[in-house]
Amino acid sequence: MHIQIETSSIEKLAVNAAAVICFETEEKTAEANAVAPSRNIDPDIANQGGWLAEVRASGEFSGKLYEISVFYRPQGVAAKRLVVIGGGKRNKFSDVEARRIGGALVRNLKTKGAKSIALLLEGTDVVDHAEAALEGAILGAWEPDALKTDPKKNENQVEQFTVVVPDATGHSLEKLAQRAEAIAESQNVTRTLANQPANVLNPAALAAAAKAVAQEANLEYEALDHNAMKQLGMGALLGVAQGSSNEPYLMVMKYRPAVSLGGSHLALVGKGVTFDTGGISIKPSEGMEKMRYDMAGGAAVIGAMRAIGQLKPPIPVTAYIPAVENMLNGNAQRPGDIVTSLSGKTIEVLNTDAEGRLILADAITYAIRNGATHIVDAATLTGAIGVALGQYNVGAFTNNQHFLDRVLNASKRAGEKMWQLPMDDEYKEYLKSSFADLPNIGGRFAGSITAAWFLREFAEPTPWVHLDIAATAWLDDPKAWLAKGPTGVGVRTFVQLAQDWAPAVTR
Ligand code: BES
Ligand code: ZN
Ligand code: ZN
Repeated sequence: MHIQIETSSIEKLAVNAAAVICFETEEKTAEANAVAPSRNIDPDIANQGGWLAEVRASGEFSGKLYEISVFYRPQGVAAKRLVVIGGGKRNKFSDVEARRIGGALVRNLKTKGAKSIALLLEGTDVVDHAEAALEGAILGAWEPDALKTDPKKNENQVEQFTVVVPDATGHSLEKLAQRAEAIAESQNVTRTLANQPANVLNPAALAAAAKAVAQEANLEYEALDHNAMKQLGMGALLGVAQGSSNEPYLMVMKYRPAVSLGGSHLALVGKGVTFDTGGISIKPSEGMEKMRYDMAGGAAVIGAMRAIGQLKPPIPVTAYIPAVENMLNGNAQRPGDIVTSLSGKTIEVLNTDAEGRLILADAITYAIRNGATHIVDAATLTGAIGVALGQYNVGAFTNNQHFLDRVLNASKRAGEKMWQLPMDDEYKEYLKSSFADLPNIGGRFAGSITAAWFLREFAEPTPWVHLDIAATAWLDDPKAWLAKGPTGVGVRTFVQLAQDWAPAVTR
């Protein structure tokens, strides 16, 4: 899809669909219903001889978020259709709604065969809203059907999406569109990876995908294979991998800016379990097919590195993606096995299904040994995070409040909801082993926090943030603005964090 930003008048654009946002109004008077949705469009054109007032009065359209009403052969507009989309409450409208409106327009209008769409935006923050709407359009166009053979699937594609911002003259709009494209396309790369079935995307295939992205985005790339990891002593990661005939890899992608600000070195670490059966502590079969997205954290890191390579933020960023398949052949790890991690700490594997933390432990140690000053990991780590927060907030954990505040700030700017959970010392008491330095599971309480505490034992004393995306990386029911399947959560926050990095960052 081609995206662009225009400052011209929307009436003149010869597109298949010209869209304007209409907000909810409390007033039920004829005048209120007839008010033009935007001061940048002629009220007579927007109302089309009373059309808008009529659909409002009939209750067919009330301005509720993402509601859509389409008017054909409009007068005074070059477009084939005039579309009114609900913006909800005007004072609650933010870039989150703008992003979703972009997505909802594409998803709705592509089923009507509209190939080109223009959306009029105005008001304060119009520049942020424009970028968000463009991102939303690209995200909304994505479908999880790459492996369907039906040739019709390419017929209903929106080819062009234009945001019209008459108020935004003087801004460097082209840069804005480029940023939107880099981020949203990268998020779609993440979603495509996370959606691949595990017979197609095993650790070697994930490594090949990371390598291809590195080449495309001008990043350095290397991968440690089984032998290299054995030499180093990554016993925690290799213990998980030993039950699969697919070899594990630890992928490293490096972005280096021409000039670095300060001495920071950001590491992004992403869980790359290409399939999680649970191992000998096997999962129930119902819903197990979804465990192909257990590499969504790794995919988010790969997608973020693609955008980072294109947008060139001022700090060095290195990605570490440990990739394994958690299977159960005759050589599989058993409950009770004790492994020695790269850090030297021994781990009693009480549950082979708590495998993510085992591979992340070695990846985090490796990141620190390779110069990371700040670490953020993203992982589909625990089912418990969905119990605690539902599917709307990523769970966030840290050993350094100042650093987490920066990550949360980036997530707000990026429109990805995150919520901090506590990491008081008391919770560490749940992680006690009689036979090794630590067990890989806590008791029945606070499963997401004990998982985070496990990782923290390997991150100390480096400032570290852990993002548990188990409940947010997959959408079970499609939304008006987004298809069912992988969401690509994490990509936008990672990119924002790197772009906002200030030289004054200290521990
Ligand atoms: N990959 C799962 C977590 C998960 C669950 C991701 C649901 C996405 C959706 C992880 O490896 C796991 O199995 N965690 C266990 C930990 C337990 C054994 C302490 C869990 O959450 O049940
Ligand atoms: Zn598991
Ligand atoms: Zn897992």
